[in-house]
Amino acid sequence: MIEVRELSKNYNGMPVLNGIDLDINDNETLVILGPSGQGKTVFIKSLVRLIEPDSGTIRYDGIDVLTLPKRKFIAIQKKIAFVFQDNALFDFLNVKENLSLYLRMHSKLSEKEIFKEVLRAIEFVRMNEEVLDKYPEELSGGMMKRIAIARAIIQQPCYMFYDEPTTGLDEANVEMVVELIHKFKKRVCKFEKRVCATVVIVTHDIHLMHAVSDRVVLLKEGKIVFVGKKEEISEESLHRLYDTGVRDDL
Ligand SMILES: Nc1ncnc2c1ncn2[C@@H]1O[C@H](COP(=O)(O)OP(=O)(O)OP(=O)(O)O)[C@@H](O)[C@H]1O
Ligand SMILES: [Mg+2]
Repeated sequence: MIEVRELSKNYNGMPVLNGIDLDINDNETLVILGPSGQGKTVFIKSLVRLIEPDSGTIRYDGIDVLTLPKRKFIAIQKKIAFVFQDNALFDFLNVKENLSLYLRMHSKLSEKEIFKEVLRAIEFVRMNEEVLDKYPEELSGGMMKRIAIARAIIQQPCYMFYDEPTTGLDEANVEMVVELIHKFKKRVCKFEKRVCATVVIVTHDIHLMHAVSDRVVLLKEGKIVFVGKKEEISEESLHRLYDTGVRDDL
């Protein structure tokens, strides 16, 4: 379980996260929805310590990670994978090298064993070996997203964080991402030896929210304005979220 209390972050004297309280339950898929510039990325990156908030606490299974020395955070960090909005693949490495990197750095697996894991990850995202020699610039947006998901999966995380996973993708690739989010939930985490698949997604995409969420958070001006099931979200609360109504780009 992840417990967030009174989480705040200012930039240039302006509050971006404004005292956020939230519990994220084990194995749920939580979708955080909000318009542009409302603090979604700052929030999700704070949850994994890519951004240090100014105040507040974040507890993973009772452990306060913000006060934990970085080296002690590593054990928790190993259970966390993050799929960045821009995928953040290394453009000077081919797909095989991008996918192998984590295991080379953080495991004692042999090159042969790493290659086996790479093939499993590629299969997981429904791609084949041909892609392994390609460089990120040779991939379409949809393929790049699948490789970014494969690179996250290879860590065998318990927690998957996605920042805008469907932005810029066509309908077929959006459905692929939806399928992969569902598929991840069925994996057994190597740390816990049980299904352990907590998913947190920040997005503008109402279709994605409907397709995958167990619970939804609406975020506005760095504050949570709604937490509940998707069925409980009224048209009115979406209108309020987006001021004048659901925007054209949603
Ligand atoms: N490093 C930074 N320095 C200064 N301001 C920042 C920084 N990072 C974020 N901000 C500001 O914080 C606010 C929230 O940014 P954030 O990226 O979290 O929004 P978002 O909800 O993810 O938006 P989008 O949907 O466009 O991705 C914005 O006004 C942004 O300009
Ligand atoms: Mg963002």
